[in-house]
Amino acid sequence: MQLIIDSANINSINKLIEFFPIDGVTTNPSIIVKEQKPFLPLLKEIRSVIGEERELFVQVIAKNANEMVEEAKFICEALSGNVVVKVPVTMEGIKAIKQLKSEGIRTLATTIYTPINAYLAAKAGAEYVAPYVNRIDNLTGDGAKVVTEIIEIFSRHHLSCKVLAASFKNVQQIHNVSLAGAHGITAAPELIEALVEHPSIKENVEKFRKDWFNQYGNESLFLNITR
Ligand code: E4P
Repeated sequence: MQLIIDSANINSINKLIEFFPIDGVTTNPSIIVKEQKPFLPLLKEIRSVIGEERELFVQVIAKNANEMVEEAKFICEALSGNVVVKVPVTMEGIKAIKQLKSEGIRTLATTIYTPINAYLAAKAGAEYVAPYVNRIDNLTGDGAKVVTEIIEIFSRHHLSCKVLAASFKNVQQIHNVSLAGAHGITAAPELIEALVEHPSIKENVEKFRKDWFNQYGNESLFLNITR
């Protein structure tokens, strides 16, 4: 399962790349705007931090398919490395995904709310779909169930599209879509850090260290011996 950072904050991306097995970075217009920096230099900076191999997801703004295609080409020409263009699943978006597929440009269909949204995008040629788990939950829907059903539809109809579950507000939602078989999750930096947070872990580690120190009077495994 891919682990993706949903942020354009350079400090956060730097830190997470250092500590976690990260596969890429997703952005959307709101995430970019939050950084208050010029658009392309920021994306180039993200690329230089994550390297050429990790996937960088960038969303189009246009409402019309032809303009979406132009924006997608611009993004792919401006950025090096593995780039995936995010396209919303409007009718124009589906048209753009078909066109981009025929031109060999990789897409992620975003703003997915129903399994049938995902089916259409996959059939049009999207490489990924991004169901918005928390936003679905907030509409009194069931985001994890939507993910489960998308995976079921893709499997039954032999669609090779991957499910990159998105929009999370808590670890339980990530847990649920992981069990459902999502191919990846994209989450905000603080939520990725929360995946490793548990009071018992800290307590256990402190006890192990205390036991060791009480016996050997040294906080390191390397006691006063020659290695
Ligand atoms: C990612 O593709 C989406 O743009 C993002 O996860 C939306 O998350 P939000 O609902 O927390 O804004």
